Amino acid sequence: MKICFATNNKNKIKEVKAALGNKMEILSLEEIGCKEELPETGDTLEHNAFQKAQYVKDHYGVDCFADDTGLEVDALEGEPGVYSGRYAGEPRSDDRNIDLLLKNLEHSSIRTARFKTVIALLIAEDKYKFEGIAEGEILRQRVGTGGFGYDPVFRPVGFSKSFAELSIEKKNEISHRGKAVRALIDFLNEI
Ligand code: IMP
Repeated sequence: MKICFATNNKNKIKEVKAALGNKMEILSLEEIGCKEELPETGDTLEHNAFQKAQYVKDHYGVDCFADDTGLEVDALEGEPGVYSGRYAGEPRSDDRNIDLLLKNLEHSSIRTARFKTVIALLIAEDKYKFEGIAEGEILRQRVGTGGFGYDPVFRPVGFSKSFAELSIEKKNEISHRGKAVRALIDFLNEI
């Protein structure tokens, strides 16, 4: 079975391929000839995930899934949430996003936060949604060089390491996206 993962993020493709093993062939946007940026104009993760998947289905006619992820920080009343990618403005920059997050939490002792992922699957004429959450804490400085996005400042509950210090396999075991992808795989295995 072939399915497109509607993302331009090579790290996400790598993570999802590692979680799927040989069960399914994942096509990237590049492989289906889609070079443009996908629209994501909603104010919920669910809206954006379906919007991206629907764009690919409408323009390229392939079954596909898209994810949208947000980091909810308790001391910031759930921010940056759905705006995590553009937290420090355009053009998007992981480095500037992290700098702003650390600055906004400089004087806060409450460090709890969570990543949430919503995956939207469009297959044949049907639509499905899968979710995953990873609870953790925002560190006071970057630790580790792996992963992407906010990984260097996110320490998952029960670990002494940041996401950026974990292998892809370990991160997948416990991460928001890993959980959502496993729910997606379980579903695809049943149909
Ligand atoms: P999006 O899902 O690609 O829109 O991601 C929104 C923001 O969250 C971007 O700044 C990403 O870099 C960040 N992000 C998404 N997934 C992860 C993750 O697994 N770890 C750390 N940051 C992430």
